[in-house]
Amino acid sequence: MDSLKENLKKVSKQIENEFEAAFVFPDGEERRVVEAMKYSVLNGGKRLRPFLVMSVAKLFGVKAESAIRTGVALEMLHSYSLVHDDLPAMDDDSLRRGKPTCHVKFDESTAILAGDGLLTYAFEYLADEKTHIEANIRCELVKELANAAGAFTGMVAGQMLDLYAENIVHQDEELIKDIQRMKTGRLIRFAVEAGAILGKASKQEREILVNYANKIGLAFQVTDDILDVEGDAELVGKTLRKDDEQGKVTYVSLWGLDKAKKKAKDLIDSARRDLGMFGDRASQLQELAQYIIERRK
Ligand code: IPE
Ligand code: IPE
Ligand code: MG
Ligand code: MG
Ligand code: MG
Repeated sequence: MDSLKENLKKVSKQIENEFEAAFVFPDGEERRVVEAMKYSVLNGGKRLRPFLVMSVAKLFGVKAESAIRTGVALEMLHSYSLVHDDLPAMDDDSLRRGKPTCHVKFDESTAILAGDGLLTYAFEYLADEKTHIEANIRCELVKELANAAGAFTGMVAGQMLDLYAENIVHQDEELIKDIQRMKTGRLIRFAVEAGAILGKASKQEREILVNYANKIGLAFQVTDDILDVEGDAELVGKTLRKDDEQGKVTYVSLWGLDKAKKKAKDLIDSARRDLGMFGDRASQLQELAQYIIERRK
């Protein structure tokens, strides 16, 4: 686990250097929105999604620059989802990554625009020739990211269900799975699939990786919900115990903590077994899966 943490730190540094270079402030007053965008990406996230892109890409010997740029684009999009998730009309949170949320630091309208700016910049950045020399690879990345983030089976659909779930009569395991799979799982799955797209993985390799991604994505959100109940606020960097207060439908609300923890562990054990065919080459992905349920933030 120590080497994983070291590698995570190294990747965070690389991603943050890219962010520093990617956000150039315009001269006019509109710079305010770019300041809010930069504030929201450079505030100490775990950078787990870029790390996943880069770990999978490494399995296939992909050029580092391609994997980093794809990770940066994904992290921009993820950060937009957090800025909007925290808005008063959504989860109404004032703390993110241990700092004031974007709408608290700036104001609500700036936070809405900063989210829009990050979402669109993610695609501009990803589609740039520097990401990959082959246009068809860039095009597939763009299409998959749009699908993962979008309103049909992607993150936006999951967020809609998350907000609306307390009004749904049958709050069962299927509903929770749908919410988690879409609101959180799809971006995590994109991280893994992007590595496979860049690496021109075979159909079978990609299928195995998607199974792994679906399981760790679900376990990731279950752990987020567990941390909301029993995390250390200082480490988590968010206001805790909000899910219950806001009537969120989660595995914890359905089953309680113990069963939710068992579910997360079973998912991770199964995800790790999925990686068998990659042998030692996948040791970083093995460790990452374990970290997802052991993390304290
Ligand atoms: C938080 O994601 C939102 C969820 C999808 C659960 P992370 O826990 O990856 O947040 P950061 O990027 O590290 O802050
Ligand atoms: C957020 O889920 C998922 C997305 C932002 C897409 P949560 O609302 O549980 O995330 P946190 O706990 O605020 O980070
Ligand atoms: Mg939310
Ligand atoms: Mg939230
Ligand atoms: Mg949460």
